[in-house]
Formats: sequence, C-alpha cells, structure tokens
Amino acid sequence: MKKTWIAATIVAGLSTQAWATPTHDEARQLVKSYMGQLKPELKKGMKNGGPVNAIDVCHTKAPQIAADLSEQSGWHINRVSLKPRAKSAQPDAWEEEVLTKFNQQLAEGTNPKKIEFSQTVIVNGEKQFRYMKAIPTGNICLACHGTDVKAPVKEAIAKHYPQDQATGYEKGELRGAFSFTKPL
Ligand code: HEC
Repeated sequence: MKKTWIAATIVAGLSTQAWATPTHDEARQLVKSYMGQLKPELKKGMKNGGPVNAIDVCHTKAPQIAADLSEQSGWHINRVSLKPRAKSAQPDAWEEEVLTKFNQQLAEGTNPKKIEFSQTVIVNGEKQFRYMKAIPTGNICLACHGTDVKAPVKEAIAKHYPQDQATGYEKGELRGAFSFTKPL
C-alpha cells in the first residue's frame, strides 16, 4: 500500500492542480450534503440524550451517510485525521501530507473554512481526482473531542473505539478533513 502511494505522489507532483473545475465543485457540493445530513443528526442526538447518546448517533449515522453519498455520487467519501477515532479515518500517505499542510496553513493564519486542496493523481495506472477540505473544531465538538471529556463519555467512546486518539483538541484546531476520491 505504502509503495503505491509513493508512486502516486511522484506522478501527482507532475500533474496540475485542479482548482475550480467542475469536479472540484462537485466535491464541494458533496461536503455540503455530508455536513447537511450529519450536523442535524448530531445536534438532535445531543439534545435527546447528551454526548453519550450522540456517540451512538455518530457511530451509526456518519458511516451510513458516507456510504449512501458514495453510492449516489460514485465518489469514495471519507473523513480522515492525524489523530483518528474511527478505523476508516486513518490517513494514507497522500492524505497525511495534505493534513500536515492544512495544519501549517492554519498556523499561518488562513481561515480554516477556506482550507481545501485537490489534485489529480495516478494510482496503479488509474487516474483519480482527490479532494480534501479541512474540518475545524467548534464548541459543540469539545464534549467528545476536547481536553476535558467527561468520564461517561470517555467510556462510551472506548466501547466503540478502543484505539481512539481523537481527544485533546481545542476550539479552532483542525479535527481532520473530508477526503473524497473520484476515478476519472
Ligand atoms: C457526541 C460525541 C461527538 C461530538 C459532539 C462530535 N463528534 Fe466527531 N466523532 C465522534 C465519533 C463517535 C466519531 C467516529 C464516527 C465513526 O465511527 O465514523 C467521530 C468522528 C469524527 C471525525 C472523523 C475522523 C475520526 O477521527 O474518526 C471527524 C472529522 C469529527 N468527528 C469531527 C467532529 C467535529 C468537527 C465536531 C463538532 C462539529 C464533532 N466531531 C463532534 C463523536 C463526536
């Protein structure tokens, strides 16, 4: 796997950045659609039973929404992080590079809502369009990703995610990124 991505990065270095193309816009629409479905579920879950209940909501709804969107759009839809919670959120080499660059951009003062990147890459001879968009940490996120996660919440997280790394965040830090791939 690692080898494949090294090759992909080299090829990608030669290709042009694909800003403001129809494919780039399509990815942005998918972000809106993903967030538009997940955020209300999260809020409803928090309101109905606090963070312990909402963890179950995130655990079931987030992958479900991603899978449905994938099926509808033909894109591979994922979220990744340098400190992942879900197993699926483990970044590959390309994603890790982009996430690191995103953190640098944030440190340089870029508005986190504007941080995104897209590139055409070739993996095993297949041309792919890859898109990532930063996900900032807001107030509502801290109950489950912050520096002071309460004991019952920690327990509920550990039950589903024994390898969890996704706590200790402060408001304004990047929690991770959307990462979408489309075969071209
Ligand atoms: C109720 C607890 C809870 C709250 C509040 C919460 N999350 Fe999460 N978050 C989770 C859980 C559980 C997962 C794992 C979901 C899965 O299994 O796919 C997760 C996963 C993620 C991921 C995917 C990457 C990873 O590490 O798995 C991102 C990105 C993320 N959350 C961002 C946020 C942001 C941004 C907020 C605030 C708007 C937020 N979360 C609020 C519980 C929460």
